Amino acid sequence: MELRFLTAEQRESFHREGYLVIEGFWSPETVLKLRSKIKKILNDLAPAESAVETIFTTKEQIRQSDNYFLESGDCIRFFWEEKARDANNNFVQAPEDCVNKVGHALHDLDPDFQEVSYEKRVGMICRDLGLLMPLAVQSMYIFKQAHIGGGVDAHQDGAFLYTEPQSVLGFWWALNDCTVDNGCLWAVPKSHELGMHRRFKRKSPPNEGTEWLPAEQTTAWDLSGAIPLEVSAGSLVLIHHSLVHYSAPNNSDNARHAYSIHVIDGIHNYPADNWLRKNNGPFNTIQF
Ligand code: FE2
Repeated sequence: MELRFLTAEQRESFHREGYLVIEGFWSPETVLKLRSKIKKILNDLAPAESAVETIFTTKEQIRQSDNYFLESGDCIRFFWEEKARDANNNFVQAPEDCVNKVGHALHDLDPDFQEVSYEKRVGMICRDLGLLMPLAVQSMYIFKQAHIGGGVDAHQDGAFLYTEPQSVLGFWWALNDCTVDNGCLWAVPKSHELGMHRRFKRKSPPNEGTEWLPAEQTTAWDLSGAIPLEVSAGSLVLIHHSLVHYSAPNNSDNARHAYSIHVIDGIHNYPADNWLRKNNGPFNTIQF
């Protein structure tokens, strides 16, 4: 297959380590445009949504039976920091400083996020890494708010999105400089070689909600070899579906912003028990 974007060294590094950092993928102008756009989206939409008490927990990543979450696959919805509200359920700071993430269809519903998610270079990377029919299944704008921005426990992205065989590829872009202080990504190099440990899925009908299979984490994550991925604004991190990664809380004075999409190979089966569903049509192809 003809290579179009990644070098042979970059491809080898991704397959060997389970991730790849590409510095300077987005220009400062693109970063600024997306930062401005999410601010506008929050101003326009968040007030009406802020009454919904959905939080993004650090423990199992998501509140497991929350319909607001389960029906967000083709919407722009807002998820709040665990520490965003006080005992009386009031925000402890302005809503725009309390949001944890916006998901899960900015890539299809907002023109600016659509443009960067479906740009040709993204499709070329997918093809370079072996995806024959790349489909964008979800997107997330991830805030890690100053002081209250929680950590995300060690996990594998493939636990949350699943194809047979597994083909999920994560794109994660830094929208400001990410450091250990503000909660950058941490990755365990080569951890993807151990394969998937468990799955997060919808329960079989007529039961509602979601479950983990197996229910308990049977293998303790060995995080001793984890390294911080300190990257500058505009950098792209590619994440293998089985890479063990996490992030720490943000203890700094500034938020850490990132945008992420997940892509699957459309030639493979996407089981209906995936938590993420799109009700308004098929997943869209990323051209290359
Ligand atoms: Fe992840």
